Amino acid sequence: MLLGNVQYTCISFFLLCSLLFRDVANAALWRITSQSSDWDSSWISRYAVDGLRDSCTHTITESNPWWRVDLLNEYQVKKVAITNRDALAASERINGAVIRVGNFPDDIYSNNVCAVISTIPSGATANLSCGGIEGRYVIVHIPGDVKTLSLCEAEVYGHLIGAVIQSSTSGNWFAEKAIDGNRGLQQLYMGCSSTLNQTNPWWRVALPHIYRVSRVVVTNRNDCCTEQINGAEIRIGNSLENNGNNNPICAVIPAIPAGESYSYSCGGMEGRYVNLIIPGNMKILTLCEVEVFGKGICSTFL
Ligand SMILES: *[C@@H]1O[C@H](CO)[C@@H](O)[C@H](O)[C@H]1NC(C)=O
Ligand SMILES: *[C@@H]1O[C@H](CO)[C@@H](O)[C@H](O)[C@H]1NC(C)=O
Repeated sequence: MLLGNVQYTCISFFLLCSLLFRDVANAALWRITSQSSDWDSSWISRYAVDGLRDSCTHTITESNPWWRVDLLNEYQVKKVAITNRDALAASERINGAVIRVGNFPDDIYSNNVCAVISTIPSGATANLSCGGIEGRYVIVHIPGDVKTLSLCEAEVYGHLIGAVIQSSTSGNWFAEKAIDGNRGLQQLYMGCSSTLNQTNPWWRVALPHIYRVSRVVVTNRNDCCTEQINGAEIRIGNSLENNGNNNPICAVIPAIPAGESYSYSCGGMEGRYVNLIIPGNMKILTLCEVEVFGKGICSTFL
C-alpha cells in the first residue's frame, strides 16, 4: 500500500511505522560503523551503510579482519543482506566470513553466529537468515590469517525491541497490536491494543530515529465502545518525562467512528516518541492501528 515508494535518502525518508515490524526498513542504514583497519580513506567502514552498493569498505590484509555496525537499539535480527564487491579477482575474499549479532562490541566471539558466508557472486547481494537473534551490534568478520574484508553494503532487517509500550494491558490486547500492520478490521478487534480501565491510560511508540512527523493515522475499534477514544491526545517529542506524555500535543481526537481510520496533521513536529494518552479517571485506551508518517533527520549519520 502506501509504502510502495520508500526512499532511503536524507531529505526524504518516508516512514510507515507499522511496517518497521514487517522488515521493510534497513536498521543499519546510516548507523555508526567501524572496522579493524582501513585500506585507505576511500574504503571506510561507513560505506557499507550508506545505501549505495557501489561504495565499499576494505580492510588491510591482516589476521581476523572485522566490520561492525551499532544499530543504537536492540533488534531481533531476522535477515542480513550482504553485497559483495563487483570485482572478479576479489569476490572470493568474502568466502568464510561470519556474521554475528549481539551486545558485545569489543568481544566478537561473545556474539551469536547468525550465518557463515560460503560464497557470494561478484557484485551480488546475499540474504542471510538470522532467525531472530537479538542484539544491538552486527559484526562481520573473517577468521584466519592473511584475510581482507570488503563489503559494498550490509543491510539489517528485523524488529526493534521494546519500541512500543502502554500504561497497562488488558488480557492479550498487547501494545504491539497497534503497529502490527493490520488496522484490525479483518480480524474484528483481535488486532488491537488496549489498556485496563485506569487513570490517564497511555500508549507510546519509539521511532528508530528522530522524525519530522507530518501526520498520524489512528484506527478506532469497531466491536463496541467507540466513544472511549474521545479526548485522546496525540503527543510527539523527544522527552520521556512522564513517560513521554508531557511532549507537545499534535492533536486531540474528538471522536472516530467505529472501525474508521482518521488522519491527524502534525505539521512536521519533531520527535522520536509518539504517545497517545486519554487524560482523566476511569478511562480505557484501545487502538487498532497507529501509523506515523514523516521525514527522517540524518542526526545519526555521524
Ligand atoms: C533478498 O531478499 C530481497 C527482499 O526480500 C529479495 O528481493 C531478493 O530477491 C533476495 N535476494 C536473493 C539473492 O535471494
Ligand atoms: C471504568 O470503570 C468504572 C467503574 O467500574 C466504570 O464506571 C467506567 O465506565 C469504566 N470506564 C470505561 C471506559 O469503561
